[in-house]
Amino acid sequence: MGHQFYPTKVGDYMTLEKTLLMIPGPVNVSPRVLRAMAKPVINHRSPEFGKRTLEINEMLKKVFKTNNDIIILTSSGTGGVEAALANTIKAGDKVLVCVNGAFGERARNIAEVYNADIIDVNADWGKAISSKDVKEKLTQDTKAVVMVYNETSTGVQNPIGEVGEIVKQTNTLFIVDAISGLGGHYVGVDEFGIDICVVGSQKCLAAPPGLAFVSISSKAWKVIELNKPRSLYFDLVRAKSFLQKDPPQTPFTPAVSTFYGLHEALKIVEEEGLENWIKRHEIIAKATREGIKAMGLELFADEKVASNTVTPIKYPAGINDKEFRKTMRTKYLVEVAGGQKQLSGKIFRIGHLGTVTSSDIISTLSAVEMAMNDFGIKIEPGVGLSAAQRVFRG
Ligand SMILES: Cc1ncc(COP(=O)(O)O)c(C=O)c1O
Repeated sequence: MGHQFYPTKVGDYMTLEKTLLMIPGPVNVSPRVLRAMAKPVINHRSPEFGKRTLEINEMLKKVFKTNNDIIILTSSGTGGVEAALANTIKAGDKVLVCVNGAFGERARNIAEVYNADIIDVNADWGKAISSKDVKEKLTQDTKAVVMVYNETSTGVQNPIGEVGEIVKQTNTLFIVDAISGLGGHYVGVDEFGIDICVVGSQKCLAAPPGLAFVSISSKAWKVIELNKPRSLYFDLVRAKSFLQKDPPQTPFTPAVSTFYGLHEALKIVEEEGLENWIKRHEIIAKATREGIKAMGLELFADEKVASNTVTPIKYPAGINDKEFRKTMRTKYLVEVAGGQKQLSGKIFRIGHLGTVTSSDIISTLSAVEMAMNDFGIKIEPGVGLSAAQRVFRG
C-alpha cells in the first residue's frame, strides 16, 4: 500500500486544516467567512443586528431570484422543509410527494408526521421524476406538491421548471427542497412558480451549517395564515411579524455568528456574480464526470439529468466503501461521501459545490485514481486528470 504520508489522527492539523472536504455539504468555508464569524456576538435585537439581517435578506432574494419574503431559520435544511410542511399541511390534506432518493423519502416522512394523505410519485433512484407523472396525479384538491430539486443522495436534478409550470395554473402549492441545488444550478423562484423554496446555508452558498432559508409566495401566505396550529418554533407568520419589527428580528435567538458568516459568504457570491458562480458549478461537474468515465468507472446517475453539485460513482466489484473512503481521507487527504440508505456501500459521492475550484477537482480525481489502484483497480495514472483538464481548458 506504499508509504503512509500523513499519519492522521482525529483532531490533528492534517485532518482539520489540510483535508479537502469534497462531500455534498457542509463545504469548505472561506477564511474570509471564518474571520467574519469571529466578530463579537452582539444583541440579536439591536439595530445593528437588524440591519445585518435585512442586508442578508436582500442578498438572498437576489440569489433566489424572488420578490417573495424570505425567512431565515436557525436550523439545518431539514428544519426548513419541516417548516414548509408544518405551516401548510393539516391532517388529511392531500399532498403529492415526489420520491427518487433519500431526501425525497425524508420529505415524505415529514408529510407523514403531519398526517398528510400522501400521493406518491416515484422514480427509480438515479433517474429523474417525470413531470407527466406529477400532472397525472395532480387533482383539484391537492394541497401541495413537494419535490426535491437536487436529489443529493443520487446526484439527480428533478424538473422543477416543468412541474412549476403545471402547478402554477392550480390552487396547489409547489414546495421545493432546493437545499443542495440553488446556487449550483439556476433556480428562478418567481419564474418557476415555486411557492415555498428551502435552501441550506452549508451547500452551494458556502456558508457554515446551521441556517435554513425559506421563501414564501403570497399564494402560500394565504394558506399559511389560515393554518393553525403551525408549530411553535417554526411558525412562519410569527417569523414574518418579527422581521417586520423595528429593528427587524427573529422570534428566537438566532445563530448570530453564523449570520455574520453567511453575510460574508453572500458577498463572495456577489463578487463572482451569480451567473459565473453557477457556470463554475456546471463546468466542474462536467469535468468530474469526464474524469471518472475516463478512469473506466461508472457514474450512478442518468447523465442527462446529472447534478452540478454532486457526482455519485458506482464502486467496482470488490471494493469496500469504508476502507476506500478511509484511504481517500487518511492517505490522500480528500474526504468524499458514501452512499445513503439502499446505496450504502454501493457508491461514493464527490461533492463539488460552494467555492470549489478546478484544482480541488484535479486533486480529488488524482486521489481517486491512487486509491483505486491501491485497491487493485488498474487505472492508468493521470487518465482522469487529462479528461478533466480538457473540460477545464474548454
Ligand atoms: C436535498 C437535501 N435535502 C435535505 C437535506 C438535509 O439537510 P440538513 O442535513 O441540513 O438538515 C440535504 C442535506 O444533504 C439535502 O441535500
